[in-house]
Amino acid sequence: MKIATILGTRPEIIKMAPIIDEISKRGIEQIVLHTGQHYDKEMSDNFFKDLEIPTPDYNIHVGSGSHGKQTGLMMKGIEEVLTEEKPDIVLVQGDTNAVLAGALVASKLHIAIGHVEAGLRSFDMTMPEEVNRRAADVTSTMYFIPTEQSALNLLAEGFSHKNLFITGNTVVDACFRHLEIAQKRGFEEESLAELDIENMDNILTLTMHRAENVDIKERVVNIIEALKELDQMNIIFPIHPRTKNTLEKFGLFDELNDLEHVHIIKPLGYLDFLLLTSHSTLILTDSGGLQEEAITLNVPALTLRYNTERPETVTAGGNILVGSDKETILENARKILSDEEFADKMRNAPNPYGQGDSAKLTVDAIQNYYDKGLLNIAAPEHIMGSFTRKMANVTEDITVSEFEANEDALIHMVFDGDAMRFPADELNLNGMMITYDKRE
Ligand code: UD1
Ligand code: UDP
Repeated sequence: MKIATILGTRPEIIKMAPIIDEISKRGIEQIVLHTGQHYDKEMSDNFFKDLEIPTPDYNIHVGSGSHGKQTGLMMKGIEEVLTEEKPDIVLVQGDTNAVLAGALVASKLHIAIGHVEAGLRSFDMTMPEEVNRRAADVTSTMYFIPTEQSALNLLAEGFSHKNLFITGNTVVDACFRHLEIAQKRGFEEESLAELDIENMDNILTLTMHRAENVDIKERVVNIIEALKELDQMNIIFPIHPRTKNTLEKFGLFDELNDLEHVHIIKPLGYLDFLLLTSHSTLILTDSGGLQEEAITLNVPALTLRYNTERPETVTAGGNILVGSDKETILENARKILSDEEFADKMRNAPNPYGQGDSAKLTVDAIQNYYDKGLLNIAAPEHIMGSFTRKMANVTEDITVSEFEANEDALIHMVFDGDAMRFPADELNLNGMMITYDKRE
């Protein structure tokens, strides 16, 4: 079996590292293709070192640009590599342009696609990420899904539960493994050593890069106004290059940088960043990965967005959406900083993203599909019977797999009262309403 991984940005490198490592430990042949969307060493090369994975076999150096140009260049480069390498499966991660380009190219070449971190939905189609992840899900063969809630999103859109694997999120694997390494090593980044971060109290880690925040001046101004008033905190802000550019363009960089309690530094390597976040009292972010890491590291998070595709962090109690509204940011930050019981509740929120064995579960599932021949994508050779969608109220003890075998059917949705359930093979359907596709 040969596995190709496509990645292009900082979070993809971090979240694919545990899988790349797991594939390599099992001696499975693999290639890694970097699109080159992130190219600064602080956004790319440093992560291969920190996460101890080999440099990619290919880098197609697309660089920055508009969505169309970037995605088009990626598709051309990816097609050349996949045509040459002929992998059995292509893995894409998350919701960046690499995911869209990789999934479109692989599906047209009839190569199976595994979407890592599939099924997330913000239900906000103005986000480029929402378009990317939805499009990738349409073309995928295997879905590696962090939580049951995300799996339900896919069921509701008509995907078969047979190809959905609830694996947790590989960010937990990365976090657990590398925090231990980081703690043994200590801070390396010069700017952090100069700040004497280890002896600092009241650290607030800030990251933001989301187009819908940093490209809109009014939103950036509101956030800065809130930061000004949080002057009891040491705000550490490893700045994303996109954000640095727009703050400079809006003439806001110096205003923020001149605040004594705000320390703008360049993006940190993974180990330094994990140490920083785990030392923090509070995280203020619009990052996807950081919402997940905050709940993994037991640090309260305020998310600078009006929606999230990670609602589990909010319902678990570890994350609060504050948008870019000054008063909402301040009200919630002050509550966390002054109400110990409230802060403790946020810190103790259960982590919905698994135990850190997500990479293992993912590669197990891929190996199993490969062994069963399920990664072969070929045109049909026999006339296919059509499916009729039916509905039933089940009134006997029967599991999902028994029902499917007896009826030559595929269960689609399961409702237990008004709650939607994931049709796990062993689920007893007695008393539940189901819809299913029956081969006629
Ligand atoms: C991209 C992803 C986003 C992800 C984020 C992770 C898409 C549509 N967006 O957003 O989902 O959350 O990465 O960080 O795929 N730049 C540099 N050096 C670099 C990279 C970028 O200076 O190494 C600057 C360029 O001016 C560029 C801008 O940052 O125009 C934005 O970069 P881009 O890759 O287009 O999007 P991100 O905002 O990084
Ligand atoms: N991160 C890092 N250094 C930093 C800022 C973030 O290593 O200076 C890591 C962080 O731990 C998380 C990931 O980058 O795992 C998140 O990336 P980003 O916020 O760029 O993208 P998103 O997750 O929003 O797609």
